[in-house]
Amino acid sequence: MVWREAGKVVGEVGLKWLSREHRQGETGFVFNPDYHGRGLATEAAEAMLALGFDNLGWHRIIGSCDARNQPSVRLMERIGMRREAHFVHNEIIKGEWGEEFVYAILDHEWKARRPSAGPCRHTC
Ligand SMILES: CC(C)(COP(=O)(O)OP(=O)(O)OC[C@H]1O[C@@H](n2cnc3c(N)ncnc32)[C@H](O)[C@@H]1OP(=O)(O)O)[C@@H](O)C(=O)NCCC(=O)NCCS
Repeated sequence: MVWREAGKVVGEVGLKWLSREHRQGETGFVFNPDYHGRGLATEAAEAMLALGFDNLGWHRIIGSCDARNQPSVRLMERIGMRREAHFVHNEIIKGEWGEEFVYAILDHEWKARRPSAGPCRHTC
């Protein structure tokens, strides 16, 4: 993501096609700490949901994070994703058992949050 006003690359968001048959996808995001706390990652993540639902016709988009990652939890809840899973000790992170949250949002949940929305207006 390029923040036009600053003329800098400030972060990255992604959209991964998990299943064409089941119309499932996944989003993820990482931003430069210098540009945290301005709503930029939220705007970029919403653009990914718009792309997945409005342009690609997906049914469900998921996101995951370390259970201790509160900024990521807040971001996913801010854009309307629901916590669907809390995995306990499902992976080893730096030598210690970790915990992971999985969030998801469905197409009708997305559309209910944006009743007047049409196809994605972002230049993505
Ligand atoms: C996850 C990550 C992208 C979130 O970054 P972030 O800066 O919290 O997110 P945003 O850019 O959307 O900013 C939102 C924050 O800015 C605040 N904010 C300030 N001005 C704002 C504005 N004009 N509009 C919206 N939010 C604004 C919000 O209140 C929010 O703060 P809060 O979380 O304390 O309530 C970031 O922490 C990160 O890159 N982490 C490392 C990678 C990572 O963990 N990725 C995800 C899991 S794999």
